[in-house]
Amino acid sequence: MPTMIMVLNGPNLNLLGSREPETYGTLTLPEIGSMSKDHAAKLGFDIDFRQSNHEGTLVDWIQEGGDSAHGIILNAGAYTHTSIAIRDAIAAIKTPVIEVHLSNVFAREAFRHHSCISEVSEGVICGFGATGYVLAIDAIASMLRA
Ligand code: DQA
Repeated sequence: MPTMIMVLNGPNLNLLGSREPETYGTLTLPEIGSMSKDHAAKLGFDIDFRQSNHEGTLVDWIQEGGDSAHGIILNAGAYTHTSIAIRDAIAAIKTPVIEVHLSNVFAREAFRHHSCISEVSEGVICGFGATGYVLAIDAIASMLRA
């Protein structure tokens, strides 16, 4: 069975490219998806890349990843700072989750400094733009090798 990594993106990330490019960069989400798939392919991994604006859908997908994925990369967008439901979904599964943010949330507004999901994630990558997704794939690769 090939190694499968689920990459889940939360609210407003479908607008990347035109959304606050000075903060989030100019790549669109499909471009970040292609970048992730190309990088993962070099390591022999499959990527299942998804986006939803809905908290419950993200919860459903995390549960699904708990059954079917070897790792989950999660940019939960603003739900990062508010969602106990997403936190509980991560805590309920054994699949490792890496939290990713394009922007350096700690260099921004105070309400972005708290994450509901960091405590239940394997690690957090933020501030490197789209490269953060590639770094997260490498992080999962080294965890799976260990
Ligand atoms: C984000 C940071 C969040 O604070 C914000 O709500 C987002 C995007 C990021 O990728 O930098 O929607 O997760």
